[in-house]
Amino acid sequence: MGVNKKGRVKKSLTTGRPPTVLKPKSISRKATRTLINSHHVLEKKKAQAIAKGDIAAQAAIEAEIAALGGLEKYQQASLQGQRLDRGGDSSRVLMEWLKTMSPGLSDVASPSSVSSSTRGAGLRMLEVGALSTANACSKSGIFGMERIDLNSQSDGILQQDFMKRPLPKDDSERFDIISLSLVLNFVPDAIGRGEMLLRTLEFLKEPDTHYSSQLRDIFPSLFMVLPAPCITNSRYMNEAHIDSIMNTLGYMKVQSKTTQKLVYYLWVRKSAVQSPLPAFKKLELRSGHSRNNFAIVIRGSSG
Ligand SMILES: C[S@@+](CC[C@H](N)C(=O)[O-])C[C@H]1O[C@@H](n2cnc3c(N)ncnc32)[C@H](O)[C@@H]1O
Repeated sequence: MGVNKKGRVKKSLTTGRPPTVLKPKSISRKATRTLINSHHVLEKKKAQAIAKGDIAAQAAIEAEIAALGGLEKYQQASLQGQRLDRGGDSSRVLMEWLKTMSPGLSDVASPSSVSSSTRGAGLRMLEVGALSTANACSKSGIFGMERIDLNSQSDGILQQDFMKRPLPKDDSERFDIISLSLVLNFVPDAIGRGEMLLRTLEFLKEPDTHYSSQLRDIFPSLFMVLPAPCITNSRYMNEAHIDSIMNTLGYMKVQSKTTQKLVYYLWVRKSAVQSPLPAFKKLELRSGHSRNNFAIVIRGSSG
């Protein structure tokens, strides 16, 4: 700011000009965490009210969720968590793994060099619970992306419930990799989580058949991210238990990483689902007052 001939302070040209673009307000880390946690607690209570058929309680809880800003506000808070200064989007971890597992993947994945049955199609990723079209997995150029979310935030994200997505008619509608990043923990009940995991199998290609030897150790696969305490501090879940559940579904863990906040996994689909499918119930694996109740229940083929 300068001084003009009359000695008055010159105002900057922008002073008094109406703002053209308003930046979205950033929410503090603590407020972000509180909002996400409150939303999860309320969704869980709502699922319990629905299970009991308690319509009045359900309506009251829905009003509380709406007062918090609903799914939209929750998604905004989740997007804040994806900002680079807060660790970036989780698919950066996936892309780092892929780079080490198959350094030439971006060349291999180009349509002309994929083995004959997928030639021309390239590798396809289904990102369930997508909040952005500019995540590392989208920007990599390795995948043909399909993104879905219960509440689409932008063009390029289809508004769709994964649990109601029409089943693929043939392999051209199946995927090489599915991303469930912070989605499984969004599902409010343990049975629903088990069903979501089982449903991933319907949308993935069969193991081995489609891939060159270079890609066979990576695809078809499931990239999964959860809040770390779901595994490290749950009464009903631990590392060995999630391994058993996933192994039963035919998945093998090929990569994992635990940070203070998150656990990341890459599960490769290696074999058919165990038959008959054994049940995984909600059984206490460790006790203690400070534990959380995250669980995954698989009903098993006998019901
Ligand atoms: C915490 S956000 C996670 C967003 C992002 N994937 C990430 O890692 O930050 C969870 C998102 O999953 C979406 N979601 C949950 N269940 C879903 C389902 N059955 N089908 C599609 N999207 C779902 C929610 O709408 C929400 O936007």
